[in-house]
Amino acid sequence: MSEKITPYKDKNRSKKEQVAEMFDTISGNYDGLNRVISFGIDIKWRKKVVRLVSKTKPKRILDVATGTGDLAINLSKTGASEIIGLDISSGMLEVGKEKIAEKKLDTIISMVQGDSENLAYEENYFDAITVAFGVRNFEHLEKGLSEIYRVLKPGGIFVILETSMPTKTPYRQGYKFYSKTILPLIGKLFSKDKSAYSYLSESAAAFPYGEAFNNILKKIGFIEVIDNPQTFGVATIYTATK
Ligand SMILES: C[S@@+](CC[C@H](N)C(=O)[O-])C[C@H]1O[C@@H](n2cnc3c(N)ncnc32)[C@H](O)[C@@H]1O
Repeated sequence: MSEKITPYKDKNRSKKEQVAEMFDTISGNYDGLNRVISFGIDIKWRKKVVRLVSKTKPKRILDVATGTGDLAINLSKTGASEIIGLDISSGMLEVGKEKIAEKKLDTIISMVQGDSENLAYEENYFDAITVAFGVRNFEHLEKGLSEIYRVLKPGGIFVILETSMPTKTPYRQGYKFYSKTILPLIGKLFSKDKSAYSYLSESAAAFPYGEAFNNILKKIGFIEVIDNPQTFGVATIYTATK
């Protein structure tokens, strides 16, 4: 499912390669586009993630698929002494590094190029791990989640923010229209990469959410798995622990 949907529909290249290339290409206008396509609501969702993480008073946090680092930057409010923002796209990381340097947060936040499916950290290393709009881009979802599970401390918090689908009428129909018609159009208007925003809506439509995603987390070994739909269900915040 999430393995079959790729940005450039190029059968000769892995999803990972295509995803990295796509985010490298759109990195310069990713932040602006993000605000437009979510009407700025993503800022509110990220704040909720930070509140959930803050409650656990973490010292070391890993933000997987950090992109341009918005969540990592917000996570500095938790009082953590070490935050690592990890991503496969060097283009996204470069944009993030500039923002972090401007905010003088580079003593706390490091932006690291790496693959969620093969994390270079020892077991039980992080007190908290977050992923915002990242899991549906993983080439092998369960491998990525297992790696996160491995490096999370027992009792540590794992928070995922990901797109989902409203289940109630008329929100469901409204969301389908928006994601199939408006979203690719905005992508075409604002981005050099025409495939990028069709990929974003196609991958969102195919990705498991709610109970289906809870079950995947539980299968990996996570416990106390809770899904909390946001804004009519267009996104969901999942929390879990180990
Ligand atoms: C939609 S962006 C989200 C960025 C950021 N978390 C945010 O909320 O704005 C998805 C990010 O996932 C990254 N990504 C995809 N697969 C990855 C992997 N296997 N390991 C690390 N990062 C990955 C992409 O490079 C991209 O920057």
